[in-house]
Amino acid sequence: MSLVAFSRNQIRKLLTKESNMILENKIPDYESLEMKFQDISEFGLYLHIPFCRQICPYCPYNKEIYQPEAAEMYTRAVKKEIDFYSGLFGDKPVTSFYIGGGTPTTMLHSGLGNILEHIFENLNMQCDIHMESHPNDLNSDNLNTIRSLNVENLSTGVEALQDKYLRILNRPYNTKEVKAAIERTVNKGFRCFNVDFIFALPNQTYAELEQAGHELVEMGIDQVAAYPLFYFPYTKMGESAKQSNYNIPNIFYLLVSLTLMWTDFRGSGQYHVP
Ligand SMILES: C[S@@+](CC[C@H](N)C(=O)[O-])C[C@H]1O[C@@H](n2cnc3c(N)ncnc32)[C@H](O)[C@@H]1O
Ligand code: SF4
Repeated sequence: MSLVAFSRNQIRKLLTKESNMILENKIPDYESLEMKFQDISEFGLYLHIPFCRQICPYCPYNKEIYQPEAAEMYTRAVKKEIDFYSGLFGDKPVTSFYIGGGTPTTMLHSGLGNILEHIFENLNMQCDIHMESHPNDLNSDNLNTIRSLNVENLSTGVEALQDKYLRILNRPYNTKEVKAAIERTVNKGFRCFNVDFIFALPNQTYAELEQAGHELVEMGIDQVAAYPLFYFPYTKMGESAKQSNYNIPNIFYLLVSLTLMWTDFRGSGQYHVP
């Protein structure tokens, strides 16, 4: 480990006090959950589908590459979890239901329908279904399947409407293809069709963003959820941003690190940054 990496670790340990933290993998028992939920009159449900056909370099979510066998195992596990919670909830209504990911549409033909059936048989569902999707999954057949699952509100990760930005994000489609997917979906008449968008991309101008916004409105989408590009440190983009910005050994940084380490080794618990 380099001196800079070592110093950085020491600073992190000092600032977060992580060595005093205890992480536990503890599954609460039925009785304690029953007590916890007894005064709650309604519930919201979130179903996570942790599979994607590719891993995007900026994405922080909990996911892995889609494999049919893993999807089958996951279906069985989720149904077991629903059985557990249906005993706890009884007839209390579920008033919001969101299916997110990862990419829920990876499981359209391998377990999603089965899970939804199980949810509707065992819980008192009193709400619409909202679901995320990937633009490449929005062909006509899949859109019909999504409608047949009674998904009323659909969201999809378009992210950009100019090829150069789609390439930066390593999205597996071009502008023409994603616009065709948007048009197909708009014509399916969902109650709400949301498009996710990422802005503040390298060298992106306001005019380019404005143009994309106008195009989306003209295409007839109902809603845009726009996020600035976050560089999460444990993603590929986060790692390369860190390397290009912070990897130069810095004498001031080293001095601060050494001072902090010294105060920690003394065990005074007081940290003085010069
Ligand atoms: C679960 S994904 C969307 C569904 C699908 N997996 C897809 O990629 O099309 C949720 C949304 O979070 C946003 N997102 C993911 N990583 C992000 C990041 N690093 N910075 C900003 N927004 C991000 C994107 O807009 C993405 O569409
Ligand atoms: S952005 Fe979407 S497709 Fe890409 S890895 Fe994240 S969840 Fe999967």
